[in-house]
Amino acid sequence: MKKKLNKVAKDTNLFLKKFIFNQKKTDLLNPIKYGLLPGGKKIRSKLIVDVGKIFNIDYKKLIQISAAVECIHAYSLIHDDLPCMDNDRLRRGKLSTHAKFGESTAILAGNSLLTIAFEILSQPTLKIDCKSKINLISLLSKSAGHTGIAGGQYSDLKFEKKRKSFKKIVDMQINKTGKLFSFCCMAPVILSKKNKYINLFNSIGSKIGLLFQIADDLIDYSGSTKKAGKKTGKDLKKGKATLIGLLGYKNTVKYGDRLKLEILNKIKKFGNKKKDLSDTINYILIRTK
Ligand code: IPE
Ligand code: IPE
Ligand code: MG
Ligand code: MG
Ligand code: MG
Repeated sequence: MKKKLNKVAKDTNLFLKKFIFNQKKTDLLNPIKYGLLPGGKKIRSKLIVDVGKIFNIDYKKLIQISAAVECIHAYSLIHDDLPCMDNDRLRRGKLSTHAKFGESTAILAGNSLLTIAFEILSQPTLKIDCKSKINLISLLSKSAGHTGIAGGQYSDLKFEKKRKSFKKIVDMQINKTGKLFSFCCMAPVILSKKNKYINLFNSIGSKIGLLFQIADDLIDYSGSTKKAGKKTGKDLKKGKATLIGLLGYKNTVKYGDRLKLEILNKIKKFGNKKKDLSDTINYILIRTK
């Protein structure tokens, strides 16, 4: 699993480096590169490649779509760390972008990464039919905006220091994290044109995203700052509404285990081709960063 994850990370980073290198030179490029490269596990990219394997999609296309997703993800982290949001100074084992370059620069670098994602998808080098391309662009915009990351982040901040129901917390986590995972699971299906599987992979994606956020919250609760590359133990201090806060640590671990089994069950029918996807799902809960 680790070897395959590293390969996907390397190939996605390579694409991003080349893409950024070919951009017009501006003063924002440095902070953009800082927030984007080389850090990050690239778990979202791995999911795109794993689902792509099930549907026999060309690897190069999958990496280009992954690069777009990682730009959106990097943007969301840069903004998530801002003083007006989670106020974190450590990210991916180094100073967060605002701590290094200042707040306004971090906001603008984040904005630029959000738009670069759509630039990457609209490139002629992504050789897929126009209809599929527009479909991808439309889905990715929905997963990033107020019905996805931005909306989820809004709820995450509004919920601080409030007691929220199980459903409210799960909905918030699916928006802030799950929607982008849904995009990752749906994109290869769109390229395959096997539309009957779209809803299934939409739902699998949001469940994997929820599982990923639960694991992230568990790492915050009991993980090490050094391993995670970001400050842990902060959710409790900030009064973040998490399942750990509502159910307790042990019950959240149990819920995560059940959710994982539910997801694995949903992909059972894909036989041998689902092996890499199963490995990634299993990895999500045992990771330490
Ligand atoms: C962290 O995401 C933010 C969440 C959605 C929980 P990752 O854990 O994927 O961050 P990187 O890309 O590996 O740094
Ligand atoms: C962030 O969740 C989710 C995003 C969409 C950025 P967290 O705030 O828990 O992520 P970390 O722990 O700072 O990486
Ligand atoms: Mg946050
Ligand atoms: Mg945060
Ligand atoms: Mg967290």
